[in-house]
Amino acid sequence: MTAEIIDGKAFAAGLRERIAGHVPAFVDATGRKPGLAVILVGDDPASQVYVGSKGKATVAAGMESFQHVLPASTGQDELLALIAELNADDTVDGILVQLPLPEGLDEAVTVAAIDPAKDVDGLTDANVARLANNEAGLVPCTPLGCMMLLHDRLGDLTGLDAVVVGRSQLVGRPMAQLLVNANCTVTIAHSRTRNLPDIVRKADIVVAAVGRAEMVKGDWLKPGATVIDVGINRLAPTEEGKKGKLVGDVAFAEAEHVKAITPVPGGVGPMTIAVLLRNTLVAARARAGLDPVEGL
Ligand code: GUN
Repeated sequence: MTAEIIDGKAFAAGLRERIAGHVPAFVDATGRKPGLAVILVGDDPASQVYVGSKGKATVAAGMESFQHVLPASTGQDELLALIAELNADDTVDGILVQLPLPEGLDEAVTVAAIDPAKDVDGLTDANVARLANNEAGLVPCTPLGCMMLLHDRLGDLTGLDAVVVGRSQLVGRPMAQLLVNANCTVTIAHSRTRNLPDIVRKADIVVAAVGRAEMVKGDWLKPGATVIDVGINRLAPTEEGKKGKLVGDVAFAEAEHVKAITPVPGGVGPMTIAVLLRNTLVAARARAGLDPVEGL
């Protein structure tokens, strides 16, 4: 049996096109474009790349991009003042503070300052509670993107056994909630879990989000499992002057017996930005008093 490759890049491109297709109706109804503000504090190179890509994708979808790049020396009060300004700005529908923040800035305090109606990362207490209660709200981008790929592949997920490896606020926890809301039987595994291989072996759906290169081995995966690999890890370079290879949290080469698997790169990664645009459009329509778009 040969695993099918889940092409997240192609799915994300289609989603971005559909979102862009809904922007003109928003502009007609409101006289302005949906607006996404991204705040980057400090000069982490990976974050700079992510934030640059988010800005380009926002503009490509016909939306307004506001980028705020602040030095690592920015104080907490200054950051909170910027968020307050963006909360009050009617042209801003979504606010994303790129994480992690530099040392000295409190992520919880920062996220809590974001208006839940503009919280396109789904990280505020109000949106976390809505997800836990299976109510409509803004949902973190990466897990929502994983759900889209799973539904596209498997249709109805009712009754399936799902194992989420990782319990982060950004991915593991909301992923588990989404799977429960989709009627899966869900196990959250993490660094202190006993018998991890045996637990993963029971899963019809495996979501790996631990940030450890190729940690999930092929013989942990049952034949017929669908595997979503959220990890993006760079291996040490094998040749001088070259970058190391990008790999996921799953040993991809050992997983040829599964039903389907996302590759790294080209799997979950491209979905995150596409869903960020989706969440921005959803937030913009809700703020403007417009009905939600079906099927987005
Ligand atoms: N850093 C890495 N991924 C993300 C994300 O999805 N949202 C935010 N805010 N920061 C991140």
